[in-house]
Amino acid sequence: MMDVMQPCSWHFLCIQAMHENHLDMEGVALKLFGTMKTNELNHLEIGGCDAVELAKEHGTPLYVMDETLIRENMKLFKNHFVSEKLDCRVVYASKAFLNMAICRIAKEEGLGIDAVSAGELHTSIRSGFPKENIYMHGNNKTEQELEMAVSEGVGRIVVDNLDEVEALARITEEKKLAADVLVRLNPGVTAHTHQYIQTSKHDSKFGESIYGRKIFEIINGILECPGMNLHGFHCHIGSQINDEDPFFEAVSVMADFIKVVEERIGYKARELNLGGGFGVYYSGEDSPIKLSDFMGRLVGHIEEKIERNELSVERVIIEPGRAIVGNAGITLYSVGGIKETYGGKNYIFVDGGMADNPRTALYDACYEAAIANRINESANERYAIAGKCCESGDIIIRDIELPKARKGDLIAVFTTGAYNYSMSSNYNRLARPAVVFAADGKSRVTVKRETLDDLIRNDII
Ligand code: LLP
Repeated sequence: MMDVMQPCSWHFLCIQAMHENHLDMEGVALKLFGTMKTNELNHLEIGGCDAVELAKEHGTPLYVMDETLIRENMKLFKNHFVSEKLDCRVVYASKAFLNMAICRIAKEEGLGIDAVSAGELHTSIRSGFPKENIYMHGNNKTEQELEMAVSEGVGRIVVDNLDEVEALARITEEKKLAADVLVRLNPGVTAHTHQYIQTSKHDSKFGESIYGRKIFEIINGILECPGMNLHGFHCHIGSQINDEDPFFEAVSVMADFIKVVEERIGYKARELNLGGGFGVYYSGEDSPIKLSDFMGRLVGHIEEKIERNELSVERVIIEPGRAIVGNAGITLYSVGGIKETYGGKNYIFVDGGMADNPRTALYDACYEAAIANRINESANERYAIAGKCCESGDIIIRDIELPKARKGDLIAVFTTGAYNYSMSSNYNRLARPAVVFAADGKSRVTVKRETLDDLIRNDII
């Protein structure tokens, strides 16, 4: 189980992915993901590209995504979340990382897209992503977002609350268009993860509790509205979950609730969407679920619950985000200096920080890192890796053992593919880094580095 509140394990650099590459450095195991490896120059390589060359060509800070690993992870879900009895769908939760390039990849690999705002919807649609495979989420979709989702004809709108039922009834009536909907339920399943990313406690802001009365008002409201087709139910119990049990529990609770709905009002759900939340390896604290095995067991449990409750559910959906892109991304930073403090802590200063990765400040997240230009050297110095933002909390890694760092070194921070670029900001008016996809020895820019003029583009004096 990952506990993001724990201090980082600095002595054990490793990574888990569909591929695992181990590199031993005097008792320290560096575990690299996907296509990442060390080359003959003692540099980190990703997607067949030398990290030092990537930094020279594209500058730093730089987000680099291993395109092959993204595709493998998508295929893993597609190939293992399968059933002979049920129509199993995999939807990519784009909040983890979204640009038009990944939409193209999701389309090619046959996944749907979960969008949670007009911005995510616009990005997906403009990339040419098939609208019928888009799931529109959000606990407070604006009228404009609902109108956009209805007019564009997205595959499903996941209704969160009663206000949204009323808004959709009006919009579908006005536009003379139908909306295909699911209702987001809160099944009250507690997953062991950071409290900020738990979503199914009884006081969560997401969805409607299955234990309250209001849920039936919502379901009946939709069933009575001619402009809405109710297909079934959705839940998402949290994120970065490394235990299997909460997922099984969510299936059981949801299946039992679907039965209750059938018995109480005669509505038979045909779709069950279980959300995402599958955890990944960030540091030695994490033992993620082995997804290739787990998917089969999850499907087995779903089938069993559907049969036992004699439900009409025909389609099941999962929405992984982090598990697809998390391990596939690294961030490259240049070292601007080393500071040894009077208090005893030694800092490596990098040219980014909480603006490109707010997760350490926000969740006490732990990351592992390496000096990408001297990757095999033994680690014998302890450092905190700090950014350049005007804030003491601007730390990327609180405590890590690395080879003695020098100004000009290139630091690679691992597992930054999920919720880093997508949560980045312009704090201190730092320009957002470029995003590069690397595969088969070639790199391509999929998001340009922001310029200083980009920063003032919307300013009015
Ligand atoms: N489906 C729904 C409805 C969600 O709300 C989420 C994530 C997902 C799917 C995908 O979850 P994943 O497979 O990526 O765990 N910013 C936080 C994570 C917030 C997740 C929000 N919802 C972080 O950096 O850890």
